[in-house]
Amino acid sequence: MSGVLVDCVRCGASVSFLLPFTHETAHKYWSAVSADVTAGRRIVFVAEDAAGATLGTVSVLLDQPQNQPHRGDVSKMLVHPSARRRGVGAQLLAAAERSALQAGKTLLVLDTASDDAERLYERAGWRRCGRIPLYALMPDGTPCATTVYFKLLHEFRPYGESDLPSCLAVFDANCPEYFAVNERADYEKFLNGRPNGFTVCVAADQVVGAFGLFNPSPGRATLNWILISPHVHGSGVGSSMMRQAVEQARRSGASSISIAASHKSAPFFAGCGAIQLSETPDGWGPGMHRIDMELRVGASPSKASANSNLENY
Ligand SMILES: CC(C)(COP(=O)(O)OP(=O)(O)OC[C@H]1O[C@@H](n2cnc3c(N)ncnc32)[C@H](O)[C@@H]1OP(=O)(O)O)[C@@H](O)C(=O)NCCC(=O)NCCS
Repeated sequence: MSGVLVDCVRCGASVSFLLPFTHETAHKYWSAVSADVTAGRRIVFVAEDAAGATLGTVSVLLDQPQNQPHRGDVSKMLVHPSARRRGVGAQLLAAAERSALQAGKTLLVLDTASDDAERLYERAGWRRCGRIPLYALMPDGTPCATTVYFKLLHEFRPYGESDLPSCLAVFDANCPEYFAVNERADYEKFLNGRPNGFTVCVAADQVVGAFGLFNPSPGRATLNWILISPHVHGSGVGSSMMRQAVEQARRSGASSISIAASHKSAPFFAGCGAIQLSETPDGWGPGMHRIDMELRVGASPSKASANSNLENY
């Protein structure tokens, strides 16, 4: 662990330390970390190769102020310079997120001064909040900015009867901005049918979104009733739901997803790579135009992401 930290700092990583940086200082740092792990204040992951050599590490800081028990900080994401660009960072990050969720955290925050790390976090669905200039120093003492990110941890599960009130509450919160008032009765009827294929998204023990993916005919999927609580709009949950829908569509053998959007939601789907097929003025109700769209999902994840910006959400 000390070797990874020393080599990262010597290669220019802005991770709290300045040059000259010695193994002794690194060892002291990890000893203090060890005490935090033992006390349950921190989770540390270590990536090793088959021979047991340390390739990298990441931490989740669990110990937060009394009024933020649901938050964790991701910290000290380090991959040894000789082990980079092999997916170690991505695996460490996924492990950190999973363990944070298991530890009861629903919001993760981090900041980084590294462009490589920014790409890693954005690929994993983290949201950029902004850049703070002159935040810290690089190991050689040069001032540097930091970019702050967050991720709302969420899970997907099949819709159950008891989700009906929460799903209707999400609809109500989006009406009349994104849905016409007359659509509520249709939605309630749809939910009362206990739709098999409807998925809810849960964050902090609350239903924050839902979507349905159905296969009316071989090779074709339709996306129905996708909606997200306004208080999590812009947090990456919508894009995460779309990634989930695309995965489900691929698994079912569909090559495209039909989306019956409104003029309000169409730009979001266009950002995910969907193309507009037709527009029906007032198609959903007065002032709510219907936009029919299609999203090609392709056979392999790499093909589909090449023609959409889903991965950047
Ligand atoms: C940021 C950091 C942790 C990334 O670690 P990493 O193990 O290289 O991360 P990954 O391998 O998952 O991804 C890195 C790149 O390799 C690519 N990659 C992943 N697996 C690959 C493979 N098998 N073959 C080729 N490329 C691959 C990824 O797509 C990514 O591409 P990008 O550079 O276009 O974004 C590492 O650069 C680091 O330790 N930096 C110094 C410390 C630091 O600044 N940490 C951040 C503190 S917040």
